[in-house]
Amino acid sequence: MVVRDAVEADLPAVKAVYDAEVRGGTATFDTTPPPLSAWRERLASPHHLLVATDGADGAGGSGGSGGSDGSVLGYASSTGYRPRAAYDATREVSVYLAADARGRGVGRALYDVLLGRLRDDGVHTVLAVVALPNPASDALHRAVGFEEVGVLPEVGHKHGRWIDTAFYALRLT
Ligand SMILES: CC(C)(COP(=O)(O)OP(=O)(O)OC[C@H]1O[C@@H](n2cnc3c(N)ncnc32)[C@H](O)[C@@H]1OP(=O)(O)O)[C@@H](O)C(=O)NCCC(=O)NCCS
Repeated sequence: MVVRDAVEADLPAVKAVYDAEVRGGTATFDTTPPPLSAWRERLASPHHLLVATDGADGAGGSGGSGGSDGSVLGYASSTGYRPRAAYDATREVSVYLAADARGRGVGRALYDVLLGRLRDDGVHTVLAVVALPNPASDALHRAVGFEEVGVLPEVGHKHGRWIDTAFYALRLT
């Protein structure tokens, strides 16, 4: 497995990984897949967009399902938390894997690189927002050092039910 910066050719596979969760899961509160242009904007932003692939290098892949050389297993990204200036040293992170790439250390590998980048950037606090229940995400965030700091009750409604979100926080510096 390789973790590297995403490039333009990875974006359809990244989008496919995310869109599967938009349509079938509750980890994201998007209910309509964002267009490819939204991913291009994220790639062009100053924030990090990393992919894990199952090959030595090279971009792209076949729709995010893993399996062939160089295909995208999943991605991790950082964004600003809120636009007001006093939040500037805080980032929000997220990670999404293709269904058949889960449970074998890919999420951990992506976060190890991403959190190292954010530490190098001088980021002070990293936040993750986890829609509950999500035992895999809870375990991953705790495994890399986050602690759960609070729950917002019933702030999402998707697939016919109300959903709580938990905030996880990690102090880097
Ligand atoms: C959440 C997700 C990113 C986790 O990534 P992953 O590659 O499956 O996790 P890893 O294999 O790196 O495991 C990391 C830790 O979590 C634990 N873990 C993984 N899946 C688990 C599960 N289903 N239940 C309990 N613990 C689990 C592992 O044992 C490991 O703990 P350890 O380091 O103490 O041994 C992945 O399952 C996923 O993409 N889920 C769908 C999208 C999603 O929920 N994203 C998170 C949005 S907040």
